Amino acid sequence: MDEPQPLKIAEGIYWVGVVDWNLRDFHGYETPKGGSYNAYLIVDEKIALIDTVKASFSEEMLKRISQIIDPAKIDYVISNHVEMDHSGSLPAIMDIATNATLIASSKGKSGLCEHYREMGCDNWNFQVAKTGDEISLGKRTLMFIEATMLHWPDSMQTYLREDKILFSNDAFGQHIATSKRFDDEVEDVMEDAAIYYANILLPFSGQVIKYVEKVKELGISIDMIAPAHGVIWRRDPARIIEAYGRWARGEAAQKVLVIYDTMWGSTEKMAMEIAEGVREAGVEVRVRHLRKNDWSMTMKELMDSPVIAIGSPTMNNKMFYTVAGFLTYMTGLHPKNKKYFLFGSYGWGGGAVKGMEKEIESARFELATESLQVKFRPFEDDLKQCRDIGKRLAEIAKEEAKS
Ligand code: FEO
Repeated sequence: MDEPQPLKIAEGIYWVGVVDWNLRDFHGYETPKGGSYNAYLIVDEKIALIDTVKASFSEEMLKRISQIIDPAKIDYVISNHVEMDHSGSLPAIMDIATNATLIASSKGKSGLCEHYREMGCDNWNFQVAKTGDEISLGKRTLMFIEATMLHWPDSMQTYLREDKILFSNDAFGQHIATSKRFDDEVEDVMEDAAIYYANILLPFSGQVIKYVEKVKELGISIDMIAPAHGVIWRRDPARIIEAYGRWARGEAAQKVLVIYDTMWGSTEKMAMEIAEGVREAGVEVRVRHLRKNDWSMTMKELMDSPVIAIGSPTMNNKMFYTVAGFLTYMTGLHPKNKKYFLFGSYGWGGGAVKGMEKEIESARFELATESLQVKFRPFEDDLKQCRDIGKRLAEIAKEEAKS
């Protein structure tokens, strides 16, 4: 059988990562398109490996590297991030490349030692890197940029000065499995990058803004951004940096997002009527049933929606389990500058709306207007109320999009 092949992305620089075609859940983030873990090999007078792959794919990565050089000859292993989708194969590579220096940020070093204490970490020859530190590979120079909280405290990026390539690790990634390696070879790459941002980087938007400023201050010119997930940005890479700035600032569209679940269709009727009110008022509306749509895409829809309506039926005196789960997921990602409207139906006893209000209040999110609940089924007057509320939410969205 043919060995897995590396891909040359520039002279002497190779993609040696793996594609995870069957990835459907990335630590709770739904990934219907699969994913990849990118590692890169730079062959100069010295040889550097930038990041590794999940432990279960070690062998495949090593086979790719072996098509180019003997992995024992690697001089530097750069670990931009501790999380195991990138560091999982470090023990395997450090076992082979016994003379390699392992470069990580200060927090990266301590994190790696905590992860791999029993896998040889004490014998690894660490070098700690700070922003601006450089190493020479011969004709080429690697410079390190600490990217704290993009998205972990240890996160770091590596810039290849002469080739103007930024190895950005998690930042600017997308979760897609594809045989293509570049942004200009795939469709919907900006949407995939937005889904990724909404589910991974959204809570760190403040740090993203500072990071974009820092990259400008460093004055580095970037011809290519090679992230640790998805395809490489080579067609105007500034566009993804600009998009990160936009997403981090939370720029709002004239849009209302209606999220709900339903047991006997009552909450669904309310959701549809609210959506119709929004539409009648001339504002875009998106509707997401929580058991019929992936939550990662729902978070992407939420990112530019200034107004969110969330509906839940009452089950056993509580909100429906998917709504409770989604609220935990969403409040953890902490989207900023949103206004919420809560609605739902109940039978013999209520509880869903109260439960949702408690969650929204404890996250210190703002309510757009008073919540609405109906008993058993929404009748004509309830549905009219839902439609009127939809119109009101649309007006709020118009105002928010202006500000
Ligand atoms: Fe791709 Fe934070 O791991």
